[in-house]
Amino acid sequence: MAGRASRIVVVSNRVAVPDPARRAQAGGLAVAVNAALKERGGIWFGWSGTITPTPSDHPVVTTQKRMTYAVIDLKEDDYQEYYNGFANRVLWPILHYRVDLAEFAQADLSGYIRVNRNFADHLAKIIGPDDVLWIHDYHMMPLAQYLRERGHRNRIGFFLHIPMPPPDLIQALPKHGEIVGALAYYDLVGFQTEQDKENFARYLDTRGGQSSADGRSYDVGGRRVKLGAFPVAIETAAFARRARHASRSQFVKRFKESLSGRKLIVGVDRLDYSKGIPNRLEAYERFLRNAEDWHDKVAYVQITPKSRTEVPEYAEMDRFVSRKAGQINGLYSDVSWTPLRYVNRTYSRSALAGIYRAAGVAMVTPLRDGMNLVAKEFVAAQDPEDPGVLLLSQFAGAAHELSAGALIVNPHDLDGMAEALRRALEMPLPERSDRYRRMMSVLEANDIDRWAKRFLAELTDDRALPAMSLPP
Ligand code: G6P
Repeated sequence: MAGRASRIVVVSNRVAVPDPARRAQAGGLAVAVNAALKERGGIWFGWSGTITPTPSDHPVVTTQKRMTYAVIDLKEDDYQEYYNGFANRVLWPILHYRVDLAEFAQADLSGYIRVNRNFADHLAKIIGPDDVLWIHDYHMMPLAQYLRERGHRNRIGFFLHIPMPPPDLIQALPKHGEIVGALAYYDLVGFQTEQDKENFARYLDTRGGQSSADGRSYDVGGRRVKLGAFPVAIETAAFARRARHASRSQFVKRFKESLSGRKLIVGVDRLDYSKGIPNRLEAYERFLRNAEDWHDKVAYVQITPKSRTEVPEYAEMDRFVSRKAGQINGLYSDVSWTPLRYVNRTYSRSALAGIYRAAGVAMVTPLRDGMNLVAKEFVAAQDPEDPGVLLLSQFAGAAHELSAGALIVNPHDLDGMAEALRRALEMPLPERSDRYRRMMSVLEANDIDRWAKRFLAELTDDRALPAMSLPP
């Protein structure tokens, strides 16, 4: 069955259809899938990003080079219940260890199930028996089950881009068995880190799962599912090239002039409570309070596109961060120096690459993050002759790979972060170079191509998946 020549069908909520008129893709998922598929080709299916009262029965199809994009619209109540409701007010906080922020509503769960069944109906019309399906992220957890119920025996893999918390937290989700438990209908479930994988394995234990002798697969509910850690990656060489070119652009030249020789600290995050932006601003304020010698010599640029603005927890975060940013500037600015530039705009990847290369320090300090590709892109963008320093939260998936080169910080320890910031700003070149090289060698060994190949090889490996993976 699923040999090398099989067609790949990727499914995710967002699809990066190449259309300049469409909303910019803020998240790492779209970047990774795009990079993974662009040479291999295939079909990428998902939501169009559009809401209409009467969605068509057929997806809108766009073909470019070897890629076919097929997208469907959602109705307003689908969007509210599936996307804003269950995906982003329930699954997102719980999987990011924030059970306190989860707002469960039965109607949202029903909407999530309805939209996933609708995705399955559309896919049923698209896929052939030999296609290999690769489903992405928390919006689509039960999709394989619904396809299996429709009789599809295809090889189906799932990759979770966000964290998988320990079983206790998963169990806080009402009806978790129908959603997280449904991951057992996939042939392969991939996670960002070994820790995420272990958490899920322990959850399967609570559901009567039996681990195979080699520990790579689980038998649960009459099915066999393989588990693996596949830390998502970037196009390392291409991003480094992009940053080199971008640093000669007018945009970056003007930006650098605006710094007037001050050392640049950069942060780039969607406006999301998981990113730890308030803690970071607080730590920066403590740094400014203690490090008077750095006043007027440093500029912190925090680029934060607004995100999921209809979800109340995000709107609240927006107000809080704006107020905090204003307070910091009110306290420390003078007429010719603004210590913090807080920018709610989306920039192109080239512009960001140039900004990263111009920076002396990046602060990537989420409270919890599946991977965090900003950390990886920042490293790849550096000038090897004069690299910047990465301050990285111990709670980002990226810390599992980059701990030999980054300054690892605890985002809850504000004084510790303030001290690490000073250390980063004052770090001598030999140490910076050494740390940069250690991180680059990780990013070169595991780039996005290898990530996709590893996942697909594991998914299509016939030896590892006996007939038990057929529907129960
Ligand atoms: C994270 C998620 C993605 C999501 C992205 C942007 O990276 O893992 O699945 O697409 O955030 O969020 P949005 O809600 O705008 O799609």
